[in-house]
Amino acid sequence: MNKETKLKVKVFRFNPLKDAEPHYEEYEVPYIEGMRVLDVLNYIHDNYDGSLAYRWECRAGQCGSCSIMINGKAGLACQTSVDPETKELIIEPLPIFPVIRDLVVDVEKGYKKLLKIRPYLHRESVSQHPEIIYQYEIEDIKPMRECIECWSCVAMCPVVQNAWDIYGGPIVMTHLAKLSFDKRNAFDHLLTAFLEGLYACTQCANCKEICPKEIDIPEKAVGKMRYLAYNKRNLVRNEHRKIVENVRRFYNPLAEDNNTRADWAKDLDIPVAKRGAKLLYFVGCMASWREQRVARATATLLKLAGENFTVLGPYERDCGSVFVRLGDMELVKEFALYMKNIVKNYDFDAIVTSCAGCFRTFKIDYLEKLGIDLGVPIYHSSELFAQHIDEGKLTLTTKLNISATYHDPCHLGRHVGVFEEPRKIIRTIGLKFKEMLNERYKENSRCCGAGGGVRSGYRDIARDIAAYRVENDVPKGAKVIVQTCPFCYFNFEDAVRTNNYSVTNIDLTELLLVSVMGEDAIKVLGSDRYKEIMSLSRGE
Ligand code: SF4
Ligand code: SF4
Ligand code: FES
Repeated sequence: MNKETKLKVKVFRFNPLKDAEPHYEEYEVPYIEGMRVLDVLNYIHDNYDGSLAYRWECRAGQCGSCSIMINGKAGLACQTSVDPETKELIIEPLPIFPVIRDLVVDVEKGYKKLLKIRPYLHRESVSQHPEIIYQYEIEDIKPMRECIECWSCVAMCPVVQNAWDIYGGPIVMTHLAKLSFDKRNAFDHLLTAFLEGLYACTQCANCKEICPKEIDIPEKAVGKMRYLAYNKRNLVRNEHRKIVENVRRFYNPLAEDNNTRADWAKDLDIPVAKRGAKLLYFVGCMASWREQRVARATATLLKLAGENFTVLGPYERDCGSVFVRLGDMELVKEFALYMKNIVKNYDFDAIVTSCAGCFRTFKIDYLEKLGIDLGVPIYHSSELFAQHIDEGKLTLTTKLNISATYHDPCHLGRHVGVFEEPRKIIRTIGLKFKEMLNERYKENSRCCGAGGGVRSGYRDIARDIAAYRVENDVPKGAKVIVQTCPFCYFNFEDAVRTNNYSVTNIDLTELLLVSVMGEDAIKVLGSDRYKEIMSLSRGE
């Protein structure tokens, strides 16, 4: 890249003393190799408009003052490199907080929340002897101390955006974790965390994604505090107690009779608990009972692709995802060992899931949290079907001419990195595809609100977060939100119905099935759904 490269930069401007409304101004800034966003702002300030207001101090990623939104993502201006290939650099103030002027926001509300939790060590008495703290005793605290209070995580948190009164937010959880894990502390900060909405975090990991200090807030702060709250203090919401009870009694959180798990398959000639099958289709609780079209479409596609597969029917049990998020590791272990036995006894070669939560639980949590390796590859259905299309095992007969966008489930995308396969299928079946607005896709996708036990513990918050996503991120003209997780689907559908939005949620497998089977898909999806998809395709 030579010195002549010019960056197109759009900057949010608002001076309350003279502007009725905020507006954007555009500047051209010469690109210099190694440039950071702060250099861009300094150039604009020095060469175009000395009144541009923005904060910075250390220029070294230490003071946290320069945090702003850079192309839809919160980050430190002094640490974020400029990509000369970026078509346009859009610079805005952090959302959530009131704007004082231009890029400077008033974070007072955030600090008030921090003060409320009494964010300091409380000692009962002064020690009479020299006090030794061993390194191992502060291992869990160390990452929390890295926080430079830049407020980027708060700006990106979907729960803060929708329910800051209920959930203190990621920075509050970081401070509470630091204090809860400190053996010298005499104050009950774990109880404070519970009261500040410990179980309202969706564990979407958006905060982890953007934290300049790479603090793993969902796992190392929220997850660990939940573990302590649940196992050591019995600090649990009643809604979650009910879920735990359901799984213990019924092997699923929905309190359904587990013997009816494969009822959706009765008319489809789908193998149930078939010995000799090499691929296990793990259907998951939501697709077994609440979103059965997903199960029906997925199993039919596996059949059409010639897979030697089976579902487990009554032998399938909850994957344990919700217990990982609650911190009940004993129960997760029970389910993980059960799954390990199933895989061994049936001699499966691989597992495919519909649900992003089951996918992450099998792929990451069993292994990282319990050291239990299922010993076979785990696929999400989108990965397997993309492969089938490549190998010519699925032939597309019907192009679907639908304007659509795609929601990246956190557990599939940001957590495991499956971004391309769903998009590949979307393009192959002919959808007119646009990414979500505000750069809220792939790693920067906004959570649907259902994860981390929030759907069961705080249903209204979960639904409001999905509604926020629909209202803010779905591109104009998009008729369909393509879904790849029945749990996200369920929550989005609740938001769409409650608010009468005109957009339709459709699972990727349903669209793929219609694309492969044409009118024959009626046998699987029902005639209403088939007609709905075709009428969307005709632009009606
Ligand atoms: S946790 Fe990370 S993103 Fe959040 S305020 Fe601290 S340093 Fe910034
Ligand atoms: S994991 Fe998601 S919901 Fe939880 S604190 Fe981070 S951004 Fe907020
Ligand atoms: S100027 Fe201090 S963190 Fe960027």
